Order: sequence, then structure tokens, then C-alpha cells
Amino acid sequence: MTTALIIGASRGIGREFVRQLLANKYKVFATARDDESLARLQSEGAQAIRTDVTVPESLAELPWRLDGEQLDLVVYVAGVFESFDGATEPPALTAFDATMHANVLGAMQSIPLLAPLLTPSNGRFVFITSGMGSIAEAESSMGWIYRASKAALNMAVHSASHDYPNIALITMNPGWVQTDMGGSGAPTSVTESVAGMLSVIGKLGLSDSGSFQSYDGRKMAW
Ligand SMILES: NC(=O)c1ccc[n+]([C@@H]2O[C@H](COP(=O)([O-])OP(=O)(O)OC[C@H]3O[C@@H](n4cnc5c(N)ncnc54)[C@H](OP(=O)(O)O)[C@@H]3O)[C@@H](O)[C@H]2O)c1
Repeated sequence: MTTALIIGASRGIGREFVRQLLANKYKVFATARDDESLARLQSEGAQAIRTDVTVPESLAELPWRLDGEQLDLVVYVAGVFESFDGATEPPALTAFDATMHANVLGAMQSIPLLAPLLTPSNGRFVFITSGMGSIAEAESSMGWIYRASKAALNMAVHSASHDYPNIALITMNPGWVQTDMGGSGAPTSVTESVAGMLSVIGKLGLSDSGSFQSYDGRKMAW
């Protein structure tokens, strides 16, 4: 059986990854922070694990909570967008710290913890980044802190790919998606975004490790 771990699955893109993977007969481990989401994930067929990516002890527990399970796919979805402010405002420390912690530090801490569980299967470790993290595509500073966090995530994952030659580490743009974060005016449904990402992931080989992909099959410019 193919086994996946979705980190940040209470709602939005992470929740949809769980739904589609279960429909595709994967064994799915899924993390959330609150009791209601954990109970719902469990009732829908996932094995729910309480994880807050900004609490290092919580992340560090993940390998033993997986109880020796080998993984084929890990998707780090957890992320926050705290402020639309751009470069005309000095960044607020609280928004900066919260964004960098969830979007970058948690992801970096997860790599040495979880990459070994993907090694036997030559698995995929996918990090949900954003088109807003592309330096080449930036047309404004709107969401300045968030942009910097996703660009930092891209560097963290790309550079880590050199240390784990037996798995593929990928940064993935989900598009602009109808979720709490993306808002109802976003052009892409969560179903379409996740179906696109799973299709792209299914075609990736080890030689794609360190690349910046998009849900629509486009290769992103850094
Ligand atoms: N929607 C878009 O248009 C869009 C575009 C580009 C990139 N993205 C990226 O896609 C990912 C998912 O976004 P989304 O649109 O699904 O957003 P969302 O609906 O706001 O969901 C965010 C998810 O991240 C989880 N999360 C946040 N902080 C966490 C923490 N400290 N520990 C564990 N989980 C945490 C949330 O859990 P709680 O329910 O516990 O808060 C929730 O499951 C993010 O990385 C986001 O940056 C989204």
C-alpha cells in the first residue's frame, strides 16, 4: 500500500490532499492541531496525529508517532499569511516571527526528521510554497513577509536536496486557491489545485529533486 503523511490537514489544501489520497486508496497519516479536526480526519479514514509545526517537541514526536511506518509521500502544507503589508511599512516582529516559524523553520526542522522515512521507497517530500515566493515573478511587495518566507522555504528545500540523493525534495506552487487563505475570489478550486499537484507529483523522478513545480505542470522560475 502507498503511504502518505500530510502535515497541516485541518482545512484547505491539506484537507483536500487527504480526501484525494484516501480516494486513491493511499494509507494516510494527517496532522492537525485541534480536537475537532483530528476527530474528523480519523472518521474520514486517515490516521490523525496532533502536530503544531511551531512547537519543536511536537514536530520531533512525528517519527515515533508514525511507529516505524515507511512513507512514499510527505506533503508539508502548513503555512500562514499574516499581513498584506509591503515594503512601505517596517515589518512587525510578531507577524515576521509567526510567518517565518510556520513557513520556514517548521519545514526545515521536518527535513532531517522525516527524510529518512522516505529513503527506502525513494519517496517524494513536497513543500507547498507559493508563486509569491518566486523572485523572478514578483511584481510588487504586497505580502512582503510572506513572500520572503516562501523564498526562504524554496532555498531551504533546494539546498537540502543535495543531502538526500535517494528521495525527491520538491517545492510546489498550488496556484491561487479558494481556501481561507486564498479567499473565495481565487480562480482555482481546491479540488483542481490538489488534483493538479498529485498529477505533477506522480510524474516526478529523483532527477527532479530540488525543483520548483506548479500545480498546472509549469516549471516555476526561482
Ligand atoms: N490558498 C492559496 O491561494 C495559496 C497560494 C499559495 C500558497 N498557499 C500555501 O498553501 C498552504 C495551505 O494553504 P491554504 O490555502 O490551505 O490555507 P488555510 O486554509 O489557511 O490552511 C492553512 C493550514 O495550515 C495549518 N497550519 C497553520 N499553522 C500551523 C501550525 N503552526 N502547525 C500546524 N499546522 C498549521 C492550518 O491549521 P489550523 O487549522 O490548525 O490553523 C491549516 O490546516 C500554505 O502553506 C499556503 O502558504 C496557498
